[in-house]
Amino acid sequence: MTALWWQTGVIYQVYPRSFQDTNGDGLGDLKGIERRLDYLVSLGVDAIWISPIYPSPMIDFGYDVADYCDVDPRFGTLADFDDLLAQAHQRRLKILLDFVPNHTSDLHPWFAESRSSRDNAKRDWYIWRDPAPDGAPPNNWISDFGGSAWEWDEVTGQFYYHAFLKEQPDLNWRHPAVQLAMYGAMRFWFDRGVDGFRIDVLWHMLKAADFPDNPANPAYQPAMGEMHRVIQVHSTDQPEVHSIAAEMRAIADSYGAQGRGARVLIGEIYLPVDRLMQYYGRERAGVHLPFNFQLIDAPWEARSLAKLIADYEAALPPGAWPNWVLGNHDRPRVAAKRGQTQARVAAVLLLTLRGTPTLYYGDELGLSDVEISSGQIRDPRELREPGLALGRDPVRTPMPWDKSENAGFTTTKPWLPLNADHSTRNVAQMIEEPQSILTLYRRLLALRRDCLALTIGDFMLLDGAADVLAYERRHRAERLIVALNLGGNSQRLQLPDWAHDCRILLSTIDDTEPVEGGALLLRSNEGVIIKAG
Ligand code: GLC
Ligand code: CA
Repeated sequence: MTALWWQTGVIYQVYPRSFQDTNGDGLGDLKGIERRLDYLVSLGVDAIWISPIYPSPMIDFGYDVADYCDVDPRFGTLADFDDLLAQAHQRRLKILLDFVPNHTSDLHPWFAESRSSRDNAKRDWYIWRDPAPDGAPPNNWISDFGGSAWEWDEVTGQFYYHAFLKEQPDLNWRHPAVQLAMYGAMRFWFDRGVDGFRIDVLWHMLKAADFPDNPANPAYQPAMGEMHRVIQVHSTDQPEVHSIAAEMRAIADSYGAQGRGARVLIGEIYLPVDRLMQYYGRERAGVHLPFNFQLIDAPWEARSLAKLIADYEAALPPGAWPNWVLGNHDRPRVAAKRGQTQARVAAVLLLTLRGTPTLYYGDELGLSDVEISSGQIRDPRELREPGLALGRDPVRTPMPWDKSENAGFTTTKPWLPLNADHSTRNVAQMIEEPQSILTLYRRLLALRRDCLALTIGDFMLLDGAADVLAYERRHRAERLIVALNLGGNSQRLQLPDWAHDCRILLSTIDDTEPVEGGALLLRSNEGVIIKAG
């Protein structure tokens, strides 16, 4: 098999509101992404996924779409998008858009029609239900952002379903016209030349046809957030969703399945591994990459990480390509979770495991969660369930490009505060520092590009010392060992015979020779890559 770009490449997620402002409104825009393409090329990534750019009232910052086939004026115009795509392609960078099929904005014209009367032709494009006999919502389903997932509509005397905000009514994907319209929206962007989509909440798209109550969650604690009162067995992950994923895949494949022109679909799915694997496809192919989010929350402990990786590898269906993620616009940043030294080790892990890595903007700077004072909160999730640390503003702050007042992100007050340490934690400064995490990321990305063992090589766990996660990556005669010390003590790792004669390719600390008498000496919190022969 010849590996495709989305298998060997690295994806970089851009949160467009926070990447680069060019017109002085404090919000990032498409021209800003275009301005920073050369940075992304020099960083060494292969594709960018841009969170939603469509016209939107921005109640959920673009995940509430009011028109699937245009660009929000805050981000620019369709012509700006075409320019961005052309400029990216000229640099051999791929562009993935964020497709939000589960729900629209309540201001989408389809919903305006649907709610206008019970006999409107688009009534069944959304999910309308009569109240329970006592007037209560039709069932006990809870919104992921807290509260009932059903909103009463006075005018037509029924409830509509929203898995997220009431401003995000769920589409009824059982309706053939909805399917056609949404497939049309995908084609609109494929026709313009996009290289693929990240599909928002793919596992939410179909709900049990008879809407039974979800079972109560015996492990529920209020600190988890209200959505966890019930287990979402009937409101998510229904078997019929796989035929929708297969249709989307067929559309993507019709634009390109092989070679440089291959398109890719990545599904956002938060499910246990056995359920997740189903999204690669069952009878028919599903999405190319069902996002594997396990590293975000996993205990940072060598033995359990080794088991997690082995179990994931073992669970992959034949031919399925793995993928790994450390963070995204919804979850705590890796530097906040693991600390600055282990964020470096995590970078090595992400970029040396087998499979496609997705990097979250700013993680290459070791950006941490930014403290948001109560007056600065923007995320509806935090506003609805305050104080539970569920809010996502801390991980969506502007990219710090330089040490100037607004960090080169904007010329005015940015929509969210900058990281307090932006005068030193910024691209311009860190790109010059040999020991910065940015330099580490650039070196890792360059190494990945040079070593087939890292992109398409086999993966084998090695016996580690205490606190050490160690594995081999091998392609033909090229054999590498990655050893990650996740703890605060130095460790001695006995190397296999074939690796006694080896040299260091990279260390997260400094590249001094770490091998002595057939053993690898790891300092505390050190990750290394060595090459045999
Ligand atoms: C996805 C997005 C998240 C959004 C939600 C509702 O989980 O990543 O940001 O709030 O869907 O669209
Ligand atoms: Ca702007």
